[in-house]
Amino acid sequence: MSGHTRETERLVDLRSDTVTRPTPGMREAMARADVGDDVFGDDPTVNRLQERVAELLGKEAALFVPSGTMANLCAVLALTRPGDAVILSDDAHPFNYESGNLAMVAGVLPRTIPAQHGILNPEAVREAIIRTEDHHFAQTTLIEIENTTNRGGGAIYPIETAADIFALARENGLRVHCDGARVFNAVVESDVPLEEYAKHCDTISFCFSKGLGAPVGSILAGDAETIDRAHRFRKMLGGGMRQAGVLAAAALYALDHHVDRLREDHRRAREFRATLEGTKGLAFPIPSPTNIVYIEVANAPRKVLSLQKRGVLVKATSPTRIRVVFHLDITDEGISKAVKAFQQTA
Ligand SMILES: Cc1ncc(COP(=O)(O)O)c(C=O)c1O
Repeated sequence: MSGHTRETERLVDLRSDTVTRPTPGMREAMARADVGDDVFGDDPTVNRLQERVAELLGKEAALFVPSGTMANLCAVLALTRPGDAVILSDDAHPFNYESGNLAMVAGVLPRTIPAQHGILNPEAVREAIIRTEDHHFAQTTLIEIENTTNRGGGAIYPIETAADIFALARENGLRVHCDGARVFNAVVESDVPLEEYAKHCDTISFCFSKGLGAPVGSILAGDAETIDRAHRFRKMLGGGMRQAGVLAAAALYALDHHVDRLREDHRRAREFRATLEGTKGLAFPIPSPTNIVYIEVANAPRKVLSLQKRGVLVKATSPTRIRVVFHLDITDEGISKAVKAFQQTA
């Protein structure tokens, strides 16, 4: 764990799109929020957010939760039983970065498959499905997809691929959960409507606390019965929040003001990458269609420290790979500073 709070003002923090701080307008909306006890279902702002998101996604119901991790976990708990197998990419967030909760909390068997840029290939999914009366086998009951993909460089699910996977799931009596932590990045970049992405899964979650710039909160949507089950699991996991309207107000503000501007993050990511492409000692191993850029270097931890000395924060995701993420708090000046720091340390 590390903290950079004291120096935040002069640092260009590209470690993640989760580092954004609420804007003055968002803080004002939070201060004005009408609130109640959401564990009793009494918070009008949370209720408004849930209804609005359900409608946006074309789902029956939605549930506000503290984090993307809890949204994914509630979905898995609501859609599976312990001992079931869940198919997901070996780059998927829950498999890599959710502290083993699939095994420890949901008690499911992750059946991971290799996937280019984190996008599952429907044929590979078909081969991994196990539905049999033979009691040797864990039964596959769920497929998880991620849109956009974090470890896949912000890759966008082609809508046809999402549709094929959902059709395959239906054919085999399986459910599909979409971890749409950054689904709005997919929407603005692809021009595929949100509802269209949501149509090809049983449940979908997204985060307000990433590119959308809210301080806390994610949401899970699906049919009423599944969301009711998820509501019980949210309580069980300690995720029932009381006057959560102050957070829901930030989320509503983000939906009103911070969706279209995600295009700016994508433009900055493209410009940053284009300027540095060809620089000695830096390679770009995968495409960067949205706000995440991966850079291959000889010694990532050493590079991270050299950049930090120049006021630029990035994350090493492997001994030779660095992740750079663009967001609301990054300006064009910030990009220039980051580019210069990369050039000086190359
Ligand atoms: C694709 C994806 N899913 C889920 C999460 C988890 O979100 P949280 O950090 O709010 O638990 C993240 C966080 O970075 C993510 O990138």
